[in-house]
Order: sequence, then structure tokens, then C-alpha cells
Amino acid sequence: MEIINRRQRMTSVARKIRREQDKTIGLVPTMGALHEGHLSLVREARRMCDVVVVSVFVNPTQFGPGEDFEHYPRDLTKDTALLTDYNVDYIFAPTVEEIYPRGFSTYVNVEGLSEQLEGASRPGHFRGVATVVTILLNTVRPDFAFFGQKDAQQALVIRRLVRDLAFDAEIVILPIVREDSGLAISSRNLYLTNDEQQSAAVIHRALIKAKNAFKEGERSAGRLADLIRTTVEAEPRARLDYVAITDTETLEKVDRIEEKPTLIAVAAYIGKTRLIDNTILNKVKKKDGAAPQ
Ligand code: PAF
Repeated sequence: MEIINRRQRMTSVARKIRREQDKTIGLVPTMGALHEGHLSLVREARRMCDVVVVSVFVNPTQFGPGEDFEHYPRDLTKDTALLTDYNVDYIFAPTVEEIYPRGFSTYVNVEGLSEQLEGASRPGHFRGVATVVTILLNTVRPDFAFFGQKDAQQALVIRRLVRDLAFDAEIVILPIVREDSGLAISSRNLYLTNDEQQSAAVIHRALIKAKNAFKEGERSAGRLADLIRTTVEAEPRARLDYVAITDTETLEKVDRIEEKPTLIAVAAYIGKTRLIDNTILNKVKKKDGAAPQ
């Protein structure tokens, strides 16, 4: 495994792999602090592609003022050790200056999918995500790029970006990986105390309650949202930021859930840590277990 810090070297290594060796490349973009969620992406990349590149880059442009950019967990040594066990070929770990050279002034904005839910709570977040993903895709030119369904809106933004700007990469979205408690695995779980970890499981419990109510015939999005709100707010350490029930493709608000796949997305603070989670009602099952596209 080679660790590459320079964009130019990454580009030329990837070009050689494609042109001279005629091999497929899988890219797993991450911000490091790797966990089981990332590793599920790496495993799938390893299964599907000849060469696996994992990028580790804490992207400043997707953090708002007062967010946790400075404190975001960084441990490249630990991440490297983990990835060695997974037979990863390259880690692309550039510096901020390498991705955003002096005078950088070009940003990518996916209009219409970036402003609501996470975008409303974190203005500019998806502009930062779309911009860095564009740079990563252009640098590595992978055949496949892998992302997690936990960031459901991010997955949609990236799919749209790739379609609209005609990137020659297939986007693979893989299911949420959870702790035994149901808590969705996230790098930000590292901020939680043991007590908070236990409390954070309330987010998934609330989603399950809504899912069960839906199975029993509840079709009103308002009542399902209320159920989630009261469940989360019954936990003293939790404070709901939003619950949104929307179309899975357009993120338009849904009032009644009929047959179409419908996203329930939740963001909540557990203590000072903001966590997100989601589930899909009327999910279209894929044979390979991947989340619906
Ligand atoms: O999901 C993440 O970790 C980040 O948003 C991503 C896609 C690596 C872009 O910085």
C-alpha cells in the first residue's frame, strides 16, 4: 500500500493503472477516523474493483463557522493500519493546500437538493461536499465511487452531481452500519460519552417506531413525524434538530405516504454532538442488498 499526498502523483498513478494495466479503480472518499461504516465501503470496493483507493481528507469547505473542523478526529496512522488489513492499494491523503491551492475560486453547487434538511441546518455544507467530490473524482477518475446511505442527502447530491456533470464513475451507495444498540456508526460518535452513546440509540428507536406505525397502517407523514419527535424528546440528553419525511429522489416534503419510496431523515443533538440517521419506507429491495438508487 502506498500513501500519496500529492494530487499530481495520484493522477499519474491512477492514469497508469487505467491505461497501462487496464484495471478498474474503486474510490472510497472519507474524512478519516475510519470505522465499520467506512470498512463496509472498502470491502465492497475490494470485491468490485481491481485497485482500491481510499481518500482521507478532512474537507474544510464542508464545515460551517463554529462547526467541528478543528476538532474533527484525525489519526492517519491508525487509519493506515486498518486499511492495510483490508488490502487497500493506495491511500490518498492530501493537505488542504494540495486540494485548495492558493487562489482557489471554483465551487460546485447542486441546486435544489442542497438547501433543505442538512443544507438548511448547515448552509454551504453541500457546496463543500460537491466541490471536494468533484476534485477527488477528477484526480482519481475511478470506475466506481462508494458512499454510505447514512448521509442520505449527500448520496443524492453526489448522484445528481455525477449525472449532471457527466462524470464517468458509477456511484455505489451502501446500507447504514449500526452498533448493536441501533446507533448509526459515525466518526462523530467518538465525541459521545458512554452515557450519551446509550442515549443516542433513541434516534434509531424513534425511526423504528415510525416504521412499525407505518407497517400497521399509519399513512400521515405528520403523525409519523410527531411520533419521532415525542420519542426523541423523551430522552433527556436528546434535542431534535429536524425530522423530515420526503420523496427519496427529490427531497420534496410528503404529506401522505402511499406506495412511493419515502425517506425519513432525522438530525438530533445528543449533548453537544449533532447526529443524523434515516430510514426508507417502501424501500425497493435490490438483489445485492445495496440501498435503493
Ligand atoms: O461523507 C464524508 O465523509 C464526506 O462528506 C466526503 C464524502 C468524504 C467528502 O468530504
